[in-house]
Amino acid sequence: MKAKKPVLELRRVTKSYPGALALDAVNFTVWESEIVGLIGENGAGKSTLMKILIGLIQPDAGQYELRGNPVTLRDPANAARHGVGMVFQEGSLVPNLSIMENLFLSHEIGFRRFGFLSRRAMRETATSVLSLVKVTSDLDTPIADTTPAVRQMVEIARLMWLSRLYRQENPVLILDEPTTVLTEGERKTLFTILTEIKRQASIILISHRLQEIVGNSDRIVILKDGRNVTEFEAEHANIAEIENRMVGHTFAAERYRENEQIEPMNEIALEVRNLSKRGVFEPITFSLRKGEIVSLVGLVGSGKEAVCGCITGLEKPDSGTISLHRKKLALGSPSETVRAGIGHIPIDRRSEGLALGMTVADNVNLLVLDKLKAAGLINPPLEKKNALRMIEECRIKTPSFSAICANLSGGNQQKTVIAKWLSSKIQLLVLDHPTRGVDVGAKEEIYRLIRNLARDGISMIIMCDTLEEDIGLCNRMLVMKDGRLVSEMSCSLARKPNPSDIIALIV
Ligand SMILES: Nc1ncnc2c1ncn2[C@@H]1O[C@H](COP(=O)(O)OP(=O)(O)OP(=O)(O)O)[C@@H](O)[C@H]1O
Ligand SMILES: [Mg+2]
Repeated sequence: MKAKKPVLELRRVTKSYPGALALDAVNFTVWESEIVGLIGENGAGKSTLMKILIGLIQPDAGQYELRGNPVTLRDPANAARHGVGMVFQEGSLVPNLSIMENLFLSHEIGFRRFGFLSRRAMRETATSVLSLVKVTSDLDTPIADTTPAVRQMVEIARLMWLSRLYRQENPVLILDEPTTVLTEGERKTLFTILTEIKRQASIILISHRLQEIVGNSDRIVILKDGRNVTEFEAEHANIAEIENRMVGHTFAAERYRENEQIEPMNEIALEVRNLSKRGVFEPITFSLRKGEIVSLVGLVGSGKEAVCGCITGLEKPDSGTISLHRKKLALGSPSETVRAGIGHIPIDRRSEGLALGMTVADNVNLLVLDKLKAAGLINPPLEKKNALRMIEECRIKTPSFSAICANLSGGNQQKTVIAKWLSSKIQLLVLDHPTRGVDVGAKEEIYRLIRNLARDGISMIIMCDTLEEDIGLCNRMLVMKDGRLVSEMSCSLARKPNPSDIIALIV
């Protein structure tokens, strides 16, 4: 057997930003035909390292070698020529162009025959490239009409094709949190495809789902505070130990702070009556008590997302009423809903929850500006005080309260959205996958914040990443299937249901 060779080597790479040493003399190697899992807390430096690998940013110091040769990559196009590419968290495809146009974007020249673009040659190549990632959609479908899963596959296919175009053997594909936007089934498909692609490429995989990293990587590298902590073969991995190395301490057995679960108060907070939306969900009636946490569970498409959408005002039901503390809500109006005291932590915080160009303080204070006024004017010391309190309470890792949100790491942007709602005066909070994309330590923080809210009498409707999380966090669970409420279960401390019982109901 041929000995494996390193494809890519970074030595003592350093990168600093004002107020943040993002990478401190980091070493990183990728071998031929391997999947390397890169993990670490929010803000550990993972994305920064990847941006250096593709030439999006330049390191302050350190060496970069590809296939044994020193390189300086000017930009991602330059990296692509060297067979290194990245699938972006936010996607880098052009929405109004088709799948095929996106595949070959700015490289169409290779398909020119006698001065004309050969659509036929393009189609043939596209079909063959897409078969690698098992995409069978019509090549003319605009990217805007495809699912995040398909978009991701098109990006992977494009990177594989580019490496072929530039005759680079064993390209390196970087996937930064690829599974946060995928359903369970799509995640499985992704890993099946990656395992096949691995025969001709190396893959760097970033994820906060440690199970997924352990199950699908060959080797695991841990970063902490911009430094190498350790690396090891995945077969020797132990999740508890990894968490410990990542965060610096071990976690209590009471994962979801179940031991802090309180009995909700008697007073009814939210009442939903005969709410329905044709073709999406049938009339549903339920209520929430003050301080109660209710989980909505069901498969994607079971109607749970639409029910939440109607409560937050983002969707309009066909019939029914929603009342908060006996006051009927105007339906289908997000601004009215906010005014009534309903908060919403959306699943896609990057695009919906946060003003990325504004500072951490601006975002955190956005909903409480009138409380921070003195004599009718915004009072900067009050603003600063509230921002600092929330940064501390939510443990947002930021160089200062005046840092621009776009410069925070992904997980810390999410904590900022949560802080925004926590500092506002709400009575009900709808949480759509609140722990997605956050590290184990930050998850614990979020569980703690949720429990504190409940203790303050705030009611919550929650949809979680895993059934275990739903069960652990909620007082009661509503199970939906095919647009109907099929079961309602108590999740009191003494009587937590088993995930397997719930799965039997939802599939
Ligand atoms: N453009 C920038 N300006 C200022 N600081 C930055 C910038 N980019 C990153 N940082 C800082 O560098 C550190 C590392 O950030 P990075 O995005 O690499 O973390 P990460 O490991 O990818 O975290 P996450 O898991 O949350 O995505 C953070 O402290 C972040 O605030
Ligand atoms: Mg990141």
